[in-house]
Amino acid sequence: MPIQTTEKIWHNGTLIPWDQANIHVMSHVIHYGSSVFEGIRCYGQPSGSAVFRLPEHMQRLIDSARIYRMEIPFTLEELCAAVVDTIEANGVAPCYIRPIVLRGYGEMGVNPRGCPIEVYIANYPWGKYIAGHGGADVCISSWNRLAPNTMPALAKAGANYMNSQLIKMEAEVNGYHEGIGLDVNGLVSEGSGENVFVVRNGVLFTPPLSNSALSGITRDSVLTIARHLGLTVTEQSIPRELLYIADEVFFTGTAAEVSPIRSIDRIVIGDGKTGEITRRIADEFFGIANGLKPDRFGWLTPVKVDSSEPVTA
Ligand SMILES: Cc1ncc(COP(=O)(O)O)c(C=O)c1O
Repeated sequence: MPIQTTEKIWHNGTLIPWDQANIHVMSHVIHYGSSVFEGIRCYGQPSGSAVFRLPEHMQRLIDSARIYRMEIPFTLEELCAAVVDTIEANGVAPCYIRPIVLRGYGEMGVNPRGCPIEVYIANYPWGKYIAGHGGADVCISSWNRLAPNTMPALAKAGANYMNSQLIKMEAEVNGYHEGIGLDVNGLVSEGSGENVFVVRNGVLFTPPLSNSALSGITRDSVLTIARHLGLTVTEQSIPRELLYIADEVFFTGTAAEVSPIRSIDRIVIGDGKTGEITRRIADEFFGIANGLKPDRFGWLTPVKVDSSEPVTA
């Protein structure tokens, strides 16, 4: 889907016109993948709009930058305020928000230290990410996720998404909606842009971060919601075949939100319908995000933009 443009993009503290948010082809990031970024959603509320877990996302951006020795010249509070300013300046909600920190134009060569750090924040309308009405058809990818101590999986770095692109393209070429990557030891890691959850015998499982999974903010939200609902939750390594015999499997992510999986490698999961636990978690997640249920965990940051779409769970 082509990007729907908005008016302004925040750049190093100033709102500039969308069309002027350009970088030079000799910028470090273009040649060596030196960027870290975030993906955040702003949801419509019964009155106004709200960003979902804004401080947690911006803290992860700061953490990703720290891993790569990138010094962001803004505090957590300044970055959060910049997101709110950008959304309010553009007057677009619901929306997806894309903050990015990159190594810009300065020197060539792998060593990035001589290149300036540039911070941009854009927002634009974006709908559902995982296709598949009634659940996604998914495959196990022939590509593994990042091996430990190669590309750090806890950094949400642009370069990591070369691996994600291989997983996503392979899945689509073979007729699936999405692929799940195994880690270097053959254990379940995550989707190309989502964390994975499994339900079996009433227990909720998800791989620990040591299986090369991103520490998803939605993953954390689902773990919190599940505990609140009184479910038994366990973060433990998941062998591939557990997916095939699961009662329910679903993806989580800012883009994917809570997305049920209908089949994996053409093996139908459970009875092929969205499971009871997936549905209860999704109801709570969308209820909170859309302001239809109490914000009991303090996850919403209000923005002064009226939602352009009806509120739906
Ligand atoms: C590789 C990968 N895993 C997991 C996630 C889910 O993370 P979050 O819930 O913070 O969006 C994402 C999305 O950002 C991702 O790209």
